[in-house]
Amino acid sequence: MENFTFDVATDIRFGKDRLSELPAVLDTFGKRVLLVYGGGSIKRNGLYDAIIALLKANDNEIYELNGVEPNPRVETVAKGAALCQEHEIEVILAVGGGSVIDCSKVIAGAAISQEDPWKMVLKRRYDGPALPLVTVLTLAATGSEMNRGAVISNLETKQKLGIHGENFLPKVSFLDPTNTFTVNQYQTAAGSADILSHLFEIYFNKTQGTDVQDGVAEGLMKAVIKNLPIALETPNDYDARANLMWASTLALNGLVGKGRSGAWSCHPMEHELSAFYDITHGIGLAILTPRWMEHVLNEQTVGKFARFAKEVWGIDEAVPELAARMAIQKTYDFFKACGIPMTLPEVGINDDRDFAEMASQAVAHSTIATDAFVPLQADDVVAIYQASLTETNFL
Ligand code: NZQ
Ligand code: ZN
Repeated sequence: MENFTFDVATDIRFGKDRLSELPAVLDTFGKRVLLVYGGGSIKRNGLYDAIIALLKANDNEIYELNGVEPNPRVETVAKGAALCQEHEIEVILAVGGGSVIDCSKVIAGAAISQEDPWKMVLKRRYDGPALPLVTVLTLAATGSEMNRGAVISNLETKQKLGIHGENFLPKVSFLDPTNTFTVNQYQTAAGSADILSHLFEIYFNKTQGTDVQDGVAEGLMKAVIKNLPIALETPNDYDARANLMWASTLALNGLVGKGRSGAWSCHPMEHELSAFYDITHGIGLAILTPRWMEHVLNEQTVGKFARFAKEVWGIDEAVPELAARMAIQKTYDFFKACGIPMTLPEVGINDDRDFAEMASQAVAHSTIATDAFVPLQADDVVAIYQASLTETNFL
């Protein structure tokens, strides 16, 4: 295990009926609030009205940025930063999924630094000050509610890039599982695929001696695999939604990721799919993951895959390669059974015309070629995209 600092001081308010705490939380930062939200789900499910009523009763000055897109655009960040400057906003309240929270993080930085948001994102790190951010999470997926990352898209340049901000960490996050009851089956499954992918990216790693992190990761994977089908079947099942929500937060707040180094694999490849075709992040990950697993299965990695087979999928098979292949097949079959389209043509990517360019961007925008679990060159990435064009059998 490597040295690390684990410092994620987000105050988590987990559970139902806690929104009445919101005004007091906001008052610790100021009265002038920028409310940031997406395309309208919070208006349809009543959350918007509940928040507005609370803030009005608390004499908050409320300004709004609505319409944050899934795969949030840099132009929306710029709009939000301008609103903050114009109205001297004191605290940002992000109500939504990862896209709304990510967009709010970069707004929080750009509002103070007055930098051009895309120039900020291109630097991939922002160490300057940021406005305080409070979140009300409505979708279990990214972990953005308790981490310092944000991912912003520029459709004009076909780029989708992550940025890490020292001061992007939300101050307080409200995690009420009932706020996810209205998430439809597609987004519920996509969100859980994202949670699983974060865990896979961290778990399949070269650093040795991380039994604590690996054991926690396996437990979180099993919790998602158990609870996702329940949430799909019964969207209002509180405990299923609660377990998915808490798993999303713990998968990417450093609990399992700290103590090891290395680069992620599927995320850089998926970000290119989203940048070129604007697809749903979790769906792209689900499609790529089993193909990537098969591509990197070799003599050095088979041991970890055999452990994954036994601990996560309960596969009792003595031959490691067979156990590994069975686990990859189980992963594929699980996503498919949860209603996820498991080939690229099903999400509108019908041919390989952009694969070479996407692969070279995936390599250029990350250290996948040197630091991944198994380093991947552009050719490897193209092969994984190619394998994702058709149905696959891994046994
Ligand atoms: O926009 P609205 O109308 O709110 O609808 C959203 C959106 O259409 C809907 N939704 C959210 N909560 C809902 C709901 N619908 C009904 N009821 C609710 N309670 O779901 C759709 C998707 O929302 P989005 O926020 O885009 O999803 P997600 O949370 O999966 O976020 C995806 C974004 O996060 C980035 C992704 O790349 C992508 O841009 N990521 C951020 C990370 C981070 N900050 O750490 C890490 C991740 O790996 C990821 O890259
Ligand atoms: Zn992700």
